[in-house]
Amino acid sequence: MAQLQVTDLHVDFGGLRAVDGLSFNVNEGEILCLLGPNGAGKSTTLDLICGKTQPTSGSIRFEGTDISQLLEFRRARLGIGRKFQVPSVYKELTVAENLSVARSRSPGIWHALTRFSLSDGRVAAPILERVGLEARASEIAGNLSHGETQWLEIAMLIAQDSRLILMDEPTAGMTIQETARTAEIFRSLSTSHTLIVVEHDMSFVRTVADRIVVMNRGAMLAEGTIEEIETNDDVKTAYLGH
Ligand SMILES: Nc1ncnc2c1ncn2[C@@H]1O[C@H](COP(=O)(O)OP(=O)(O)O)[C@@H](O)[C@H]1O
Ligand SMILES: [Mg+2]
Repeated sequence: MAQLQVTDLHVDFGGLRAVDGLSFNVNEGEILCLLGPNGAGKSTTLDLICGKTQPTSGSIRFEGTDISQLLEFRRARLGIGRKFQVPSVYKELTVAENLSVARSRSPGIWHALTRFSLSDGRVAAPILERVGLEARASEIAGNLSHGETQWLEIAMLIAQDSRLILMDEPTAGMTIQETARTAEIFRSLSTSHTLIVVEHDMSFVRTVADRIVVMNRGAMLAEGTIEEIETNDDVKTAYLGH
C-alpha cells in the first residue's frame, strides 16, 4: 500500500478551483517531485496534505488512515512535516537547541526520554549528521548561511519524527554548491524518509526525483520518470503556453 494516497482532491477558493480532481500516490522512501507552471496548484496541494488548507472534496490517506479532516497539528503528530519557504528556526538559539525545541513539539516516547538532553551535542549529533551540520551543533542559528538554515529546518522535521516531508522550492536562494549538497542530503534521506518536493530547478529534479507529477490548472497533467516527462507533448504545451 502506498504511504500517501491522494484521491480526487478538489479545493475552491471563492470561484477559483485551485485543485481540481487530483489523484496520486506516494510510496514510502520515494522522492516525488511536483512540477507545473505558476498557479498550477502545487503549493495548495502541499497545504492540503499538511492540513493548512481543508479540501472541498476528495480524500487523503496517510499510512492507511484517512487524514482529510484532521487538523494540521494532528497530521504533524502522525508524521507529516512541512518545510515552509520562510524558515522557522530560532535565530538566537544554537543549532542543537533548535533541534531540542523541535523535538519538544513531538509527543513520542523518544521525546520523553531525551528532551532534556537534545541540546547536548552528543544526542543531536546523529540527526545533524544526516544534514551535514554535525560540526555546527553549538553555532548560533542566526550565524548559519542560507543553505545551512534550510538544512537545519530539515533536521528539525527529522527531530520531530516526520516520516513524510513536504518542501516547497527548497533550493530557492541557494548557491550552486548548496543546491548540490541539498541533492545529496535528499538522496540519503530517502533511505528513511519520504519526500514530496516542489521544485523548478530541472537539474536538481533530475538528480533527486524517483518520480515526477506535473500539475496544470489544479489537475495532473502527466506522471512518470524524468525521461517520460521531458518527452511528453502535453507538458511541453503547458509550459510553452505560459
Ligand atoms: N488562499 C488562497 N485564496 C485564494 N486563491 C488562492 C489561495 N492560495 C492559492 N490561490 C490560487 O490558487 C491557484 C494555485 O495557487 P498555488 O497552489 O500557489 O500554485 P503554484 O504553487 O503551483 O504556483 C492560483 O491561481 C492562486 O492564485
Ligand atoms: Mg507555489
